[in-house]
Amino acid sequence: MHEALVFRGVRAVDPSRDLGTDPRSAPVDVVVEGKVITRIGPHAGDAIVKASGGSGSARVRIIEGAGSLLLPGLIDLHAHVREPGQEYKEDLRSGLAAAAAGGFTDICAMPNTRPVNDTRAITEMLVYKARAIGGTRLHPIGAITVGQKGETLTEMADLKDAGAVAVSDDGYCVTRSDVMRRALEYASTFDMPLIQHAEDHALTVDAQMHEGAVSTRLGLRGWPRVAEDVIVARDVILAEYTRARYHLAHVSTLGAVRIIREAKSRGINVTAEVTPHHLLLTDAALLGYDTACKVNPPLREDADLLALREALADGTIDCIATDHAPHSPLEKDLELSAAAPGMIGLELCIPLMLGLVDKGVLSLARVVDALTRSPARIVGLPPPQLREGAEASLTLVDPIRSWTVSPERLRTKSKNTPFLGQTVRGMVMMTLVAGVIAFDVTADKADKT
Ligand code: NCD
Repeated sequence: MHEALVFRGVRAVDPSRDLGTDPRSAPVDVVVEGKVITRIGPHAGDAIVKASGGSGSARVRIIEGAGSLLLPGLIDLHAHVREPGQEYKEDLRSGLAAAAAGGFTDICAMPNTRPVNDTRAITEMLVYKARAIGGTRLHPIGAITVGQKGETLTEMADLKDAGAVAVSDDGYCVTRSDVMRRALEYASTFDMPLIQHAEDHALTVDAQMHEGAVSTRLGLRGWPRVAEDVIVARDVILAEYTRARYHLAHVSTLGAVRIIREAKSRGINVTAEVTPHHLLLTDAALLGYDTACKVNPPLREDADLLALREALADGTIDCIATDHAPHSPLEKDLELSAAAPGMIGLELCIPLMLGLVDKGVLSLARVVDALTRSPARIVGLPPPQLREGAEASLTLVDPIRSWTVSPERLRTKSKNTPFLGQTVRGMVMMTLVAGVIAFDVTADKADKT
């Protein structure tokens, strides 16, 4: 392993320090020695490059980065890694490999595994196995209620002590108000955010997709927006009352956006995330009955998509989270009503989000913040920074290079995405976790070009 890495002539972007946010900013060199960023600045790598003989050595690796973006390591608050219990869809090794290839240095794993992660034992097992694998770091999220059944609270102190960074019953909503109130109070005792999957299940029985003109035309039972909105409204009231930290998973409706915006304006401690697919697709994608487009919450309408984009841009929505939800053909190559909801997301997040930057929908600075500092703050991880002396957790992206999404080029075990076959622009070139290379496209067998 090299003792030093030199990224030459990159555009280093760290909105928390106002670094590189202007596209005209001068290229810089970033020098990593051991686990730490030791130098940043124009020509900051000249001396070490010269000392290495100009083109690197056994000790020094030079990465010519002209035109590339160097970002603080990306963090995903919402990934389903399926271990334990459904390793045929994904396991820790494949999930962490997909995360690294997507540029993520840290991912948070949802607890809807088999069995559910509602105990210290499972949390500890995940932490232990992920550490042994290395590369991208895994942060378990423990369940709010035993078995995600919405009734009995888990031992959150144990979960936290074992390494859980938050609690969530994702996949299911905590529907009962009494349980939700106690869960908020209990989680706040341990300073853990509670992540809610907002869905009034009584309003979504047998729902296959968003309830609207398209579901009517297709003759499919719909999941109305209000099923999300009523829960978010109630939860905001409970969050205000309990003063707990409430985080809304995968917000999908314009109504929920309005409620979160109002709650924030009154100083209530609420945060929210949005997925790339809810920022890009609508229920029209289901016109061909494509099961890859069946997700929870469902793809909605243009008005929702626009409200989500605006809310992400203005900070009402704090961060981008993938909701990477791998499924095998056993759950997806079926008629729509029998198919499981979910789509993969880790390896597509960067190209899809850079696409929105190219279109002028979001600034690059906002996208980077929403994938780095903002999620770190929500789950209490150290915010990744491009700063001399900071831990070298970094993502190198070529924003121009395009690639075609195909099963062979993805590291996840599952292929359930409607973007298969599409050519996207923006390629993760390298992911560095505390100075160690977790992904390197040049060393990768399935080079994505
Ligand atoms: C999630 C999954 O597959 O675990 N699916 C999804 O569409 N987001 C769980 C869920 O939220 O239903």
